[in-house]
Amino acid sequence: MKKLLIIGGAGFIGSNACYFFSKKNYKISVIDSLSYASNLNYIRPLIKDKIIKFDRIDISNYQKLNKHINKLNPQIIINFAAESHVDNSIKSPNIFFKSNVIGVYNILLSIKNYNKKNKSNKIRFFQISTDEVYGSLEKGYANENYPLNPSSPYSSSKAAADCLVMGMCKTYNIKYYISRCTNNFGRFQFPEKLIPLSIKKSLNNKPIELYGDGKNKRDWIFVEDHIRAIYKIITKGKTNQIYNIGAQNTYTNLFISKKILSILKDLKNKKIISKFNNTISFIDDRPAHDFRYAVSTKKIMKDTNWGLKNNFEKNLYHTILWYITFFNKKTNE
Ligand SMILES: NC(=O)c1ccc[n+]([C@@H]2O[C@H](COP(=O)([O-])OP(=O)(O)OC[C@H]3O[C@@H](n4cnc5c(N)ncnc54)[C@H](O)[C@@H]3O)[C@@H](O)[C@H]2O)c1
Repeated sequence: MKKLLIIGGAGFIGSNACYFFSKKNYKISVIDSLSYASNLNYIRPLIKDKIIKFDRIDISNYQKLNKHINKLNPQIIINFAAESHVDNSIKSPNIFFKSNVIGVYNILLSIKNYNKKNKSNKIRFFQISTDEVYGSLEKGYANENYPLNPSSPYSSSKAAADCLVMGMCKTYNIKYYISRCTNNFGRFQFPEKLIPLSIKKSLNNKPIELYGDGKNKRDWIFVEDHIRAIYKIITKGKTNQIYNIGAQNTYTNLFISKKILSILKDLKNKKIISKFNNTISFIDDRPAHDFRYAVSTKKIMKDTNWGLKNNFEKNLYHTILWYITFFNKKTNE
């Protein structure tokens, strides 16, 4: 059994990854600083059943992180930890550089020191990055050699982390992977991002708010497809490589909001919900708002044989049902 350390495992994608990897042949430890975007309750059943071990550690604290990695002896570290909300990065960029850049630097430094001391177990590192590092594309698809062209403090902190991983891993001979994925959707996401926020607003009888004219385009991937891609990269991919991950489900924010409202209408007709607000309003655009992200996924498909498994419409429907139950439980608590 390989020892896997999941960093940021109490956040949206990290929690889903804990469930996925717990069904594979791994002994799993999780660390997370438990920021506002996390929810330890999501992975509590796995902790209770001793399927995973959890420790609260902030990756911006090198001493604590380094000690923990030395104690754990992991073979693989996957880093999901990050401040992840673009709007917050515009208001308060500081914490983004602390967690997303210094945090990654601390992980790399800990691995460098660990690998130097432990000749028989060299830790491999997997950095979870984003398609946002390529910036806005008017047309075509960014492959992994496309220039970094970030537009926000969030995406620039992620691009900086990618550069740190490449440079430090080359110098210190650390095996690494970087994946750059498109927008994820699914259970466990903090309701500040488009899909859960829109569901929450509409259920609370408020209009869904969209930036600008709502025509900005994103490629939406079901979170389980993303995690399966990470698993494929670890088991079949080449080390010291960057892999794009995407779904070719490119829709405008307006289309997504209308889709959510049509599903909520269907759920009201089926008497699963009693009311929802059926309106969309438009607010002042976000500064430097990227118009379109689009990545080529030829490389991951060729190297690992990864492909999409999940159907967008069906999964959006199930995701909405999950949030309805989640928000209901919160109101009744
Ligand atoms: N959500 C998406 O659509 C998407 C798309 C592409 C890439 N990504 C990347 O995937 C990763 C996970 O994203 P997410 O949506 O799950 O984010 P999230 O905000 O839901 O979760 C991030 C987790 O990291 C933890 N964290 C933050 N700072 C930390 C620190 N200093 N030390 C330890 N833990 C810390 C938080 O507590 C939280 O549990 C991020 O690196 C993000 O950039 C996300």
